[in-house]
Amino acid sequence: MVEETILIGPFKEIVTMRDLSLYGALKDEQLEIISDGGVLVKEGVIAEVGNYQELKGKFPKANIERIEEPMVLMPGMIDAHTHICYGGSRENDYALRVAGKSYLDIAKSGGGILSTVTNTRKARQQELVNGILKRADVLLKNGVTTCEVKSGYGLSLDDEVKMLRAIQEANQQHPVHLNPTCLAAHTKAPEFDSVMDYTHYIVEQILPKVKEEKLASRVDIFVEESAFGIEEANIYLAAAKQMGFDIVVHADQFSTRGSQVAVQFNALSADHLEASTEKEIDLLSKANITGVLLPGCSMGLGLPYPKGRMMLDKGMCIAIASDWNPGSAPMGDLLMQAAVLGASEKLSTAETFAAITYRAAHALNLIDRGKIDQGQKAHMIAFSCQSYKEILYYQGSMKPDKVWL
Ligand code: NIG
Ligand code: FE
Repeated sequence: MVEETILIGPFKEIVTMRDLSLYGALKDEQLEIISDGGVLVKEGVIAEVGNYQELKGKFPKANIERIEEPMVLMPGMIDAHTHICYGGSRENDYALRVAGKSYLDIAKSGGGILSTVTNTRKARQQELVNGILKRADVLLKNGVTTCEVKSGYGLSLDDEVKMLRAIQEANQQHPVHLNPTCLAAHTKAPEFDSVMDYTHYIVEQILPKVKEEKLASRVDIFVEESAFGIEEANIYLAAAKQMGFDIVVHADQFSTRGSQVAVQFNALSADHLEASTEKEIDLLSKANITGVLLPGCSMGLGLPYPKGRMMLDKGMCIAIASDWNPGSAPMGDLLMQAAVLGASEKLSTAETFAAITYRAAHALNLIDRGKIDQGQKAHMIAFSCQSYKEILYYQGSMKPDKVWL
């Protein structure tokens, strides 16, 4: 069999994102920018990166994919936190919120997460698959090549399994890599009298099935006054850990208990962190827990952004994700959200790029993507522009013109 080798280029610039630290602040001067660059790809994996002409001389037999106009190449974006498997829509919630009602008040009066649960339970698996595929098309157009997707709108054995199977099926049908997480512990299922009763049900019924059917290798929990408390989190996460699941936590969205839970269970990531103060940031940083910041949720709820600058200055590894969901974050545009958070929190271009590439890969425990480097998957995106600085400058309105996946 002849190995398919392709030399792609020349690019005006390649932003490789390699040789950068996983933790802490980054300066733009640290970015490796290869001018007139090329990438040699062998069966979907990057074999070499360098000057285009030199690579052409070194590999005269490679097929050429010639880039005719000036373009800047970077790794495909990785969205490490979404809820894009759901039924229904929540524009009524949004209208109430912009008119002054709070997210938690709307939830108490019948809207919120539980209204999406009702619609997701009504949906057949195929309808959920169709919804994910439609959203994955948008991701691809926007340059997102790997996307985490949570369950959490089913809240019963059958409906959580239906959601996770839908994510699995959509993953098989779509080029964007969809990485599933079980979020059965999103909020109390309406059938249960207490959060503790529902927690035991998840541990006894849902997690073993998810494990047995290999529907997800990660579990998430929403630690919040309105959702799961410390006691329930302890039971759920101890069981999950024992079963071998990786752990992530919806932490410190409105109040600050979740970060402590994330530290205690050595979570892969603590996500949200809008309410985190210096105290929680110190805790997370000492424990090397990755923070996944969700500016799209701040935008959707009209609430302040998390303290990204402080987190980086205290040495944290920070990813930025869209939290795309029908309630708190309906926009689903990662680049736009990362650019706006960066402008508000004073993140360098290097820090924002890192947060949507290799640091986001780290949040998902994936080591084979997020950089343009030898051995990495050739997930790459190119923008028609002259300089990498234009990519954030347009704050997400400039979309990639080419995506390799
Ligand atoms: O990450 N905070 C909890 N869960 C989701 C929102 C889900 C919803 O509103 O439907 C979040 O914001
Ligand atoms: Fe979320």
